[in-house]
Amino acid sequence: MTSNLPRPFLLLSFLSLIAAASYEEDATRRTMEEFSGYPTSPHPSALSLSPSSLSVDMVGLQRQIDELAAFSDTPAPSVTRILYSEKDVLARSYIKSLMEEAGLSVREDAVGNIFGRWNGAEAGLAAVATGSHIDAIPYSGKYDGVVGVLGALEAMRVLRRSGFQPRRSLEVIMFTSEEPTRFGISCLGSRLLAGIEAVANALKHVVDGQNNSFFDAAKGAGYDVHQEDLSNMFLTKESYSAFLELHIEQGPILEQEGVSIGIVTAIAAPASIKVEFEGNGGHAGAVLMPARNDAGLAAAELALAVEKHVMESGSIDTVGTVGILELHPGAINSIPSKSHLEIDTRDIDEKRRNTVIEKIQQSATRIAKARGVKLSQFEIVNQDPPALCEGSIINAMEVASQHLNLTHKLMISRAYHDSLFMARVSPMGMIFIPCYKGYSHKPEEYASIEDIANGVKVLALTLAKLSLD
Ligand code: GLV
Ligand code: MN
Ligand code: MN
Repeated sequence: MTSNLPRPFLLLSFLSLIAAASYEEDATRRTMEEFSGYPTSPHPSALSLSPSSLSVDMVGLQRQIDELAAFSDTPAPSVTRILYSEKDVLARSYIKSLMEEAGLSVREDAVGNIFGRWNGAEAGLAAVATGSHIDAIPYSGKYDGVVGVLGALEAMRVLRRSGFQPRRSLEVIMFTSEEPTRFGISCLGSRLLAGIEAVANALKHVVDGQNNSFFDAAKGAGYDVHQEDLSNMFLTKESYSAFLELHIEQGPILEQEGVSIGIVTAIAAPASIKVEFEGNGGHAGAVLMPARNDAGLAAAELALAVEKHVMESGSIDTVGTVGILELHPGAINSIPSKSHLEIDTRDIDEKRRNTVIEKIQQSATRIAKARGVKLSQFEIVNQDPPALCEGSIINAMEVASQHLNLTHKLMISRAYHDSLFMARVSPMGMIFIPCYKGYSHKPEEYASIEDIANGVKVLALTLAKLSLD
């Protein structure tokens, strides 16, 4: 949905609201006058700046989304882009070149979080940042994360084209490995930026499915990381004054209700668990049923127990998924001697989510005993608390939506995002846009360029406001 009001009116009125909130001294005041074209103090450049340039280049943005989707290890329309793979490295170069073309100064940290900065008039102040990820789980779509990176770059271009001059610097961040696919650690880049020591330590010993260490994989992608580099990445609370993330909703609510913009109030608490059972295996024909201790059946029973414990919570907000279930040796005529499960469980209520984890652990112990198998691993990989979005940022997004004449609603994020961890070091806010039938993490994922453009405009106006704060 787009506004019926002329753009100059909208931009002017949005900025007049900003001006009413913080009409201050010298450079900032001049910048705002220039941007808005206020007649209060005639300035030579005031009329040369056209607020109508608050327009999104939809053709260019769609082309970039399509070009980025081509860096994939599986055929279109699916996208698979795994951390530090050849396609991930190519996609990273693509993002860096777009940042440079947009006039941003680009830097990368030890693990490949990529930053593109537009220096503000008061570059010494904490910057306002926005961004997301471009890694994609196997056979997923081309919008998850991507909208928040390419959309953020377009928001910078929108503001540049409008003649806006930021007071605080504006920065686009492309986070490394939001998805846990390769090393089982979600939001790897943003957890490190948030200063989570446990992640820096875990990276010493994690390996991928091919037994490559994190450090070897990083080196293969051109990041010669050393353990001591990781703590140098930690941000302080002074690094950013605000962090925003634009993302597809990944659920059906906005589309079903015909609402253009979701303004996130909180992100649900995720947890992930790895479990392994070990039995004796044996011949599928010769070992009689009473003599078996089948690690595969233990896994199957635990998967059903996960569903049961989640349903027992009584809340629609509690969810649980067994997304990985592997059997060893994986032959039709061999009783599984080992099984491996990875369980994802989440809730907006942390205590309720933790109760589910406890029940899953009790079930794993009980099932192992009953089936005569060994519970050789029960590892809670992460058990994160939820994050709350900052009231003042929610407010700024609501004002921006109103001024763009876009319908909006407050909602929670059931998916996790890098924002969950950026919230530990910065006030945080998230903007959702509708996506087709709520599809995500599958090739059918789709968001229209018009809906993306709406999100980009809300992002641009909110960044402008926060930059002047
Ligand atoms: C993010 O990809 C999530 O699984 O929520
Ligand atoms: Mn995802
Ligand atoms: Mn995502």
